[in-house]
Amino acid sequence: MRKPIIAGNWKMNKTLSEAKSFVEEVKNVVPSNEAVDTVVCSPAPFLGQLVEAAKGTNVAIGAQNMHFEENGAFTGEVSPVALEDLGVQYVILGHSERREMFNETNDSVNKKTLAAFKHNLTPIVCCGETLEEREAGKTKDLVADQIQKAFAGLTDEQAKQAVIAYEPIWAIGTGKSSTAQDADEVCGHIRKIVAESFNADVAAAVRIQYGGSVKPENIKEYLAEENIDGALVGGASLQPASFLGLLEAIS
Ligand code: G3P
Repeated sequence: MRKPIIAGNWKMNKTLSEAKSFVEEVKNVVPSNEAVDTVVCSPAPFLGQLVEAAKGTNVAIGAQNMHFEENGAFTGEVSPVALEDLGVQYVILGHSERREMFNETNDSVNKKTLAAFKHNLTPIVCCGETLEEREAGKTKDLVADQIQKAFAGLTDEQAKQAVIAYEPIWAIGTGKSSTAQDADEVCGHIRKIVAESFNADVAAAVRIQYGGSVKPENIKEYLAEENIDGALVGGASLQPASFLGLLEAIS
């Protein structure tokens, strides 16, 4: 019922020529849009050229962050207006690396989520716990709080369109992935929270990705789970062969 969505998060990697040749290599071989939504989230300087390179294919281009203001004295920031103008379709918001290193808060993630919808961008809203929080039994409460706050003020329709990425911080780039069953339990809890905050229809429609050391060898286990609708992938999205390997799990 929910279309899978596989998104690569390149983080601060690649040069322009590497980014363009990646898109050239994958753009005509990714599965069709009826089967899966395919997203590449690139560093900001490459976005415009990648949108051009991917035009007319099933590769959507996403940003990794943005400001919530439309313009103004925010040196070094990128606005939702600029992303929309470039033809960017997705934006990752509230990634744990931004929360940890760049003072991203639940409040700023909420403002950015609202701004994304205002500018026709689909937000991929990230949530997830540290190892310490997991060991203290706080995972469910923490992700519930992150998602309730991020989604405050959205309409039902917007909440249905948004994408949630559950990324346990201890599993990011460490090679230690959550078991598919554990990830599904948390994603199921997030869906329950969405049902309570909106309604059952919204909860049934919203897509929830798992992220954290996903690779071609383990992605099928996650996609087989009831509440997991795709993956947000860092390391294994950097090379065309492994990105396409992730997509092979869809058929
Ligand atoms: O946003 C994706 C990410 O944080 C997961 O990274 O390298 O563990 O797939 P990785």
